[in-house]
Amino acid sequence: MPNNLTVIVLAAGGGTRMKSKTMKVLHPIGGRSMIGHVLKAVASIEPQHVVAVVGHQREQVGPHIHEMLPEAVLAVQETQDGTGHAVRVAVEAVLESGAIDGTVLVAYGDTPLLTGESLAAFAADHEAAQRAVSILSGIVDNPFGYGRIVRNHEGDVEAIVEEKDANRDQREIREINSGILAFDAEFLVEALPKIGNDNAKGEYYLTDTVQLARDAGLTVGAWAIDDVRQTEGANDRAQLADLGRELNQRILTRWMRDGVTIMDPATTWIDADVVLAPDVTLLPGTQLLGATVVAEDAMVGPDCTLKDCEIGSGARVVRAHAELAVIGEGANVGPFSYLRPGSEVRARGKIGAFVETKNSVIGEGAKVPHLSYVGDAEIGEGANIGAGTIVANYDGIKKHRTKVGRHAKTGSNNTFVAPVEIGDGAGTAGGTVVRRDVPPGALAVSSGPQRNIEGWAQKKRPGTAQAEAAAAATAGEPQGERDVSHGGPSGVGQTGSGEEQS
Ligand code: UD1
Ligand code: CA
Repeated sequence: MPNNLTVIVLAAGGGTRMKSKTMKVLHPIGGRSMIGHVLKAVASIEPQHVVAVVGHQREQVGPHIHEMLPEAVLAVQETQDGTGHAVRVAVEAVLESGAIDGTVLVAYGDTPLLTGESLAAFAADHEAAQRAVSILSGIVDNPFGYGRIVRNHEGDVEAIVEEKDANRDQREIREINSGILAFDAEFLVEALPKIGNDNAKGEYYLTDTVQLARDAGLTVGAWAIDDVRQTEGANDRAQLADLGRELNQRILTRWMRDGVTIMDPATTWIDADVVLAPDVTLLPGTQLLGATVVAEDAMVGPDCTLKDCEIGSGARVVRAHAELAVIGEGANVGPFSYLRPGSEVRARGKIGAFVETKNSVIGEGAKVPHLSYVGDAEIGEGANIGAGTIVANYDGIKKHRTKVGRHAKTGSNNTFVAPVEIGDGAGTAGGTVVRRDVPPGALAVSSGPQRNIEGWAQKKRPGTAQAEAAAAATAGEPQGERDVSHGGPSGVGQTGSGEEQS
């Protein structure tokens, strides 16, 4: 790119058809705002200046633009008097801090499919042809609403006529102004004050620069883009969804070309900032959102939503919902797992069915296979957490941490009352409520020995099916002589041994 390029992004309009308290250009699509996509494309061609024109709800839009592109200059357009007026406001903002020369590109903040490559190719064509004004045009089936490109017998561009100002013949023209224009800066600075508002909308049309250039004997031309969808804006939610689907299909196609298997593109959604390695497999119903990164040979899906997650190579994630979580190499998650922010499953670890984790590390090869909540905890390498374990991390006022040592094996239906530490190689019996630290290698038992009251069903529930079943089972047995020595420390009661389906 030449080093004297200025890009103006127009985003002052109200976008009323969105019927939203959120400004149009801030509506998300593919994990970024619409204007976020445009700014990303603009930044990729490395312009000298970027000016964004803001107006409506600028207290929302301005900070967002600065977050996306800190070097962007904000120009405030108090009243939306037309695209010509908006560009004038932008040019004045640049002139305040110095000169403006070379090429000025004008784009809109609501065209999320626009790429930096297209902008660069358009600017290069404009400069090679040494035009005063270049129009990025497109041939469309339904030109309604767009400015039409009017050409003379030689095929030269004579004017852009807006829908409302067009006559019947002009309305038939299918070559339209995408709105993206390139200017020679010197010409633009002189032309802007000459634009009037004597038209159907009473606005200052930027497109009037075409006529002004021709009147001055300068060159005007159009560069028709094949991929017109890149110039499409979303004015309402239906168009937003339509562009969202198109953007998604483009992202999926790119990843498939780069070696990712996507079994069902129709139900797979990948945000623009997601990064995937070759030989990743995505099964139906998978949404990879935000800054999610998936390493090679990992398989995700069916039915997963992963936002801002890091998935290690060869990991397997099935029917899981995860946010800000790290899933290590060869780890196994799901089905039906919920990983909240700060969850980390290290290499070959496992989080199984109906397990929720938050702000916790599941160590290398450690397993939380069934029906558990693990919050603010550190589970040591190779440890196994029994089915139905609850880490009681919250005492009603504060959150506390729980630590389970390396290769510890804890029983089913335990409660770990934080803060508490279970030592390396320690164990806990089934049903234990762990309130005190367990030393390494010790077995914690908190439930009392079991007591059986013989004949209870027949005595207390006479005449019921329960009593009858009990009577039938004990017929002929003398009462009171059955073994009552169940329970106690021998009844460790582990399940969830960590084997795949225990
Ligand atoms: C404009 C073009 C039209 C083109 C169409 C493509 C003009 C006069 N017409 O028409 O030829 O086919 O875009 O979509 O340029 N904006 C401001 N400040 C304003 C007015 C507009 O920032 O005072 C911004 C809007 O937020 C929007 C963009 O400029 O992003 C286009 O404005 P809009 O009013 O939608 O222009 P159109 O009538 O669609
Ligand atoms: Ca428009």
